[in-house]
Amino acid sequence: MWQSVLSLCMCVTVTRAQFPRQCVTPEVLRSGTCCPSPTDLVDDECGLKTRRGRCMPVVADLRPHGPQYPQDGRDDRERWPLLFFNRTCVCNRKFSGYSCGQCRYGLTGKNCDQRTTVVRRNILQMSPEEKKAFVNALDQAKKTVHPDLVICTRRYEELFGPDGNSVQCENITIYNFFVWTHYYSVGKTYMGPGQQSFGGVDFSHEGPGFLTWHRFHLLQLESDIQDMLGNPTFALPYWNFAIGGNECDICTDDLLGARSSFDMNSISSNSVFSQWRVICDDLEEYEKQGDHLRNPGGNRPILQKLPENQDLIDCLELKNYDTPPYYFTSTWSFRNSIEGYSTPQGSYDPVVRSIHNLAHLFLNGTGSQTHVSPNDPIFVLLHSFTDAIFDEWLRRHHPGTVFYPKENAPIGHNWHFNMVPFWPPVTNGEMFVLASDTLGYTYEIQWPTRPYAISEIITIVIVAVVLVVTVVGGIVACFVRVYGSPEGLELLLSEHFCRYSEDSHKFQYTA
Ligand SMILES: *[C@@H]1O[C@H](CO)[C@@H](O)[C@H](O)[C@H]1NC(C)=O
Ligand SMILES: *[C@@H]1O[C@H](CO)[C@@H](O)[C@H](O)[C@H]1NC(C)=O
Ligand SMILES: *[C@@H]1O[C@H](CO)[C@@H](O)[C@H](O)[C@H]1NC(C)=O
Repeated sequence: MWQSVLSLCMCVTVTRAQFPRQCVTPEVLRSGTCCPSPTDLVDDECGLKTRRGRCMPVVADLRPHGPQYPQDGRDDRERWPLLFFNRTCVCNRKFSGYSCGQCRYGLTGKNCDQRTTVVRRNILQMSPEEKKAFVNALDQAKKTVHPDLVICTRRYEELFGPDGNSVQCENITIYNFFVWTHYYSVGKTYMGPGQQSFGGVDFSHEGPGFLTWHRFHLLQLESDIQDMLGNPTFALPYWNFAIGGNECDICTDDLLGARSSFDMNSISSNSVFSQWRVICDDLEEYEKQGDHLRNPGGNRPILQKLPENQDLIDCLELKNYDTPPYYFTSTWSFRNSIEGYSTPQGSYDPVVRSIHNLAHLFLNGTGSQTHVSPNDPIFVLLHSFTDAIFDEWLRRHHPGTVFYPKENAPIGHNWHFNMVPFWPPVTNGEMFVLASDTLGYTYEIQWPTRPYAISEIITIVIVAVVLVVTVVGGIVACFVRVYGSPEGLELLLSEHFCRYSEDSHKFQYTA
């Protein structure tokens, strides 16, 4: 956890899950099959009749996970989602979604045969209208019930309710669903009544899946908002947080909300985000609501300053995606550097908080505590930028040839593990691709380049010295010629002195 609050919390965790509304009836849950139809036709599960997809057994990762989690058999999220469903829709190439009713990322149109790419841009470079549209879209998502997915608020054991027939699932809004999936992925393992929960588990942080998990998390929100707006070109913007200093440049009322003039820790009432209620405020009950807190730059001195451009240059040069033990203690791991448990150059240091972690901690409020952080909408922009760095790293180091572990990563983080709690199942490996290749989005971004190295500076200095010597030599030679003859003096006093322009023929280096 980037904040110790979570590790110190002794509260009991009740794990929960989320599925399509059609699949949470007692009958469907007991059948273990969640294969709805995208149409109203009979015998058309997963759009079989139109060859969109078919109902297939769920494939879950069977390879060993790392030693951090010794509680096998206790947690609903192990081998996700097998405890809940063991058959789901597997869609053909062009389609996706829980019933294969949607197009795959990067495709659109009635038959999903038109290519489309959305462009994620720097929020500061958007026009006032675009900024307003983005803020409004988030606010609408905060209020609009998710059209397809519901959340189940009890562990599997208690899922069917006290009478065994009233499934404990409920509606949730699109943005709160985004908050909730993150919360579900970081919850502790329930160890039984009266027992302390086990906290050494995190399905979305402190492992190689950190980048792939958050990538899908954003894709899901982006696609839900596109559907909500009926606008397939909607793209999440990003916040370039690598600006150093202790100012939050997106904390203004036209963007993510300025600081309240009455309370250091609150958002100005001129911003719509001051109205947002925080959900999942407590690890025990997600229903618990709280106040939205933010005090950018208010944390202790080493956490007061945003990451620097140089940090990006450094971490992008790391060649290994991740290194054993694939944990928050990894050294020379690109993933651990960008996540922020090692220095940007790659050495693990328990007191360091860099790049992504530092940007969170800088916010000093809701956005800096793992289990509630997506409640602060800055989370969306902060992770969009983190994902942009990931994508740039993939572009430079070539996915497929770099190392992502197939086994022995912390639970949830192996290549073939279905990321918890996404539905339908999607593996970490499926997100380990260049976004522009198969995920239908790109970033409009200018990456900083490394300043000149010492050897390069020496070369530049030598070249400059040679040039200066030559030029000075030329001038001296010119003077010698001018003063060297009696007519020369006249020339100098008249307007015919050596110049770079018209009389350049008189001004030759070799004179
Ligand atoms: C799938 O789940 C159902 C319901 O829990 C169960 O009856 C069935 O045996 C499972 N099938 C397999 C192959 O595990
Ligand atoms: C959940 O939302 C759906 C669709 O908006 C609606 O039909 C259903 O009645 C809602 N259920 C509850 C319990 O509010
Ligand atoms: C905010 O910063 C203070 C130190 O200035 C720290 O004590 C506190 O825990 C921080 N709060 C959060 C939520 O990060």
